[in-house]
Amino acid sequence: MQNNMMYEHKDMTLDMFTQQQENIHNNEYFIKKSLLPQKSTVSKGKYTLQDFQIMRTLGTGSFGRVHLVKSIHNNRFYAIKVLKKFKIVKMKQIEHTCDERRMLKLVQHPFLIRMWGTFQDSKNLFLVMDYIEGGELFSLLRKSHRFPNPVAKFYAAEVILAIEYLHAHNIIYRDLKPENILLDKYGHIKITDFGFAKEVENVTSTLCGTPDYLAPEIIQSKPYNKSVDWWSLGILIYEMLAGYTPFYDTTPMKTYEKILIGRVNYPDFFVPEVIDLLNKLITNDLSRRLGNLQNGAGDIKSHPWFLEVVWEKLVNKDIETPYEPPIQGGTGDSSLFDFYPEEQQLDYGIQCEDPYEHFFVDF
Ligand SMILES: Nc1ncnc2c1ncn2[C@@H]1O[C@H](COP(=O)(O)OP(=O)(O)OP(=O)(O)O)[C@@H](O)[C@H]1O
Ligand SMILES: [Mg+2]
Repeated sequence: MQNNMMYEHKDMTLDMFTQQQENIHNNEYFIKKSLLPQKSTVSKGKYTLQDFQIMRTLGTGSFGRVHLVKSIHNNRFYAIKVLKKFKIVKMKQIEHTCDERRMLKLVQHPFLIRMWGTFQDSKNLFLVMDYIEGGELFSLLRKSHRFPNPVAKFYAAEVILAIEYLHAHNIIYRDLKPENILLDKYGHIKITDFGFAKEVENVTSTLCGTPDYLAPEIIQSKPYNKSVDWWSLGILIYEMLAGYTPFYDTTPMKTYEKILIGRVNYPDFFVPEVIDLLNKLITNDLSRRLGNLQNGAGDIKSHPWFLEVVWEKLVNKDIETPYEPPIQGGTGDSSLFDFYPEEQQLDYGIQCEDPYEHFFVDF
């Protein structure tokens, strides 16, 4: 039971009510001037499929899969996320996909994945990223069952710096969960999957995310702001310490009911400081939710649970990681990733009629 339960939120990312997407332009208040570094768009069409040897699947998602690949030019390993155009169109994710590309192209932070470029063929979009070798935090957590207090604190602190950076650039991430947090060869985090990241000045109302991690205001279809990421941080910290999420249930609907009731049971091994922090993150009262107050992320960083964290050292990766993934860096070692059935016949690189071409001119 415990095990089934714990694998439940894997692959549950969803855009729950996709019909809502059609209203996205009416609902989202786009920022007038982007705060992101405005780099050139040389990443567009910089690569082709012939530049890479496609290797095993590292992960699958709603619209395609992520492959380990090897560059035929420099023999280095990269990860390529392949998205099927017809699935994106069918699930009304065109705008989110174009946003994913734009956000990934622009963000620069030690704890965020780096994208090198994109290209497309008649059927697929391809995003070329650094290959992060240490696997998902999800896998480490399931293997460990739960993390000791200092270990959870270390990962939470790196996540906070990444989310603080995104928020400072008016980006809501919206899909914080252990599957989207990868570990590099030293054990530092890299957040991947910008499929729901959005540059928004104020509030938005698109229903997307992963059930266990959704803030109540998203479920209630209210306009919401960046602080949904701080709610998700609370769920993440809880899950790292307990080994399961606080509102887990057998169906998403039951989970939503629990989220709306908002009662959190803390195992007795949770220290008082973290219970205090989680009470202030997992709250539906936005005037109390830490991260949403005047000092923003500063209030979370100065919370007593993080007392011993030296934030300046952390951002420079000048702090020993609690776990070094047992892999040989730079060799394409993928032993820490789960195995997924490979597609028998890849439709990559096929040139044929492309009815969706006009949707993806940025790639
Ligand atoms: N740069 C990377 N290096 C190594 N593995 C990666 C990388 N990017 C993604 N992955 C693996 O692929 C998985 C799926 O990637 P991602 O989350 O971006 O896809 P997705 O289609 O958005 O998934 P979902 O719809 O389930 O959220 C990740 O959980 C991770 O295991
Ligand atoms: Mg994902």
